[in-house]
Amino acid sequence: MTDDVKILAIETSCDETAAAVSQNGLNILSSIVASQVDWHRKYGGVVPEIASRKHMEFIEPVIEEALNKAEVQLKDLDAVAATYGPGLVGSLLVGLSYGKSLAYALHKPFIGVNHIAGHIYANFISKKDIKKPVVCLTVSGGHTDLLYFEGYGEYQIMGRTKDDAAGEAFDKIARYLGLGYPGGPIIEKKAKKGQEDAIDFPRPFLNKDNYDFSFSGLKTAVINYIHTQTQKGNELNIYDIAASFQRAVIDILTEKTVKAALDKKVRTVILSGGVAANKRFREVLKKRLNQYKIPLYYPELKLCTDNAAMISTVAYYQYLKDDFAELNLNADPNLKL
Ligand code: KG4
Ligand code: ZN
Repeated sequence: MTDDVKILAIETSCDETAAAVSQNGLNILSSIVASQVDWHRKYGGVVPEIASRKHMEFIEPVIEEALNKAEVQLKDLDAVAATYGPGLVGSLLVGLSYGKSLAYALHKPFIGVNHIAGHIYANFISKKDIKKPVVCLTVSGGHTDLLYFEGYGEYQIMGRTKDDAAGEAFDKIARYLGLGYPGGPIIEKKAKKGQEDAIDFPRPFLNKDNYDFSFSGLKTAVINYIHTQTQKGNELNIYDIAASFQRAVIDILTEKTVKAALDKKVRTVILSGGVAANKRFREVLKKRLNQYKIPLYYPELKLCTDNAAMISTVAYYQYLKDDFAELNLNADPNLKL
């Protein structure tokens, strides 16, 4: 029964409605993502009520498309999986309830998956032979987590953000500057035309002897700088602000990750989450890790951001361990690994 396992996974933890079918974990037969970004853009961030309503609208066609593309019928599935946390509770409930109902109707086992575990596994989908142990930095709009990972289920959280997530800081600064949403790609583009050392923004927690992060002080410093310059009647150089802010975030993420990799003597460093799409960050981190001959790996873009392929892969490893959930499993917005 375990030689050809097909799992349908559903992911609705934030603002992407996603479904995927995997075969034996790492072979992704289909991965469909319906982005809601157009509905949230005008508000400068994700609006939870809109997110849950859009999930309800999209979930059925997205699942149908995933099954069709995989050429798999419901009766061929070995299990149904869904993300049950962390994330926005109203969003999580849509995918979770749908997944549980489907599993019940099909008399198939149901698997509840942790979204962060999904982000880690995204790396193993795009590169099957990553050498473990690894340090994994998950950086997105909702998380900044530094993890030590030896094998499935063997995680150790080394540090995480005490306030804003790194992606959230990008989004908030972009919104403050009236640049649009999501902020990360826009700031990265503006930063290319600016000087990284033009403004000396703070790098909170950089020299603290731990692996935790903090970005709200940096965000406030950028906002204060904009205020002061505006009050003085000085023209704002958006490019320099973007480049200097981005470099401060990159320095914090890079140094904490390098410290973790050296302390744990890992064989690889992996990245996940939307901020891992930032090319300048990848470049700076890669250069630093090269000094210690530690390879850096990050998934292709469509696997960096939220998707259900990564959820179906985690679900497969849970399937092998008979790690099934009862149908009363509830959404847990603050679920930890
Ligand atoms: O993983 P993801 O798609 O969703 C969450 O789980 O949050 O990440 C989205 C976040 C947003 O905050 C977005 O601004 C950020 O990732 N992001 C970036 C870049 N692309 C996306 N941040 C910095 N540079 C980028 N190129
Ligand atoms: Zn995510």
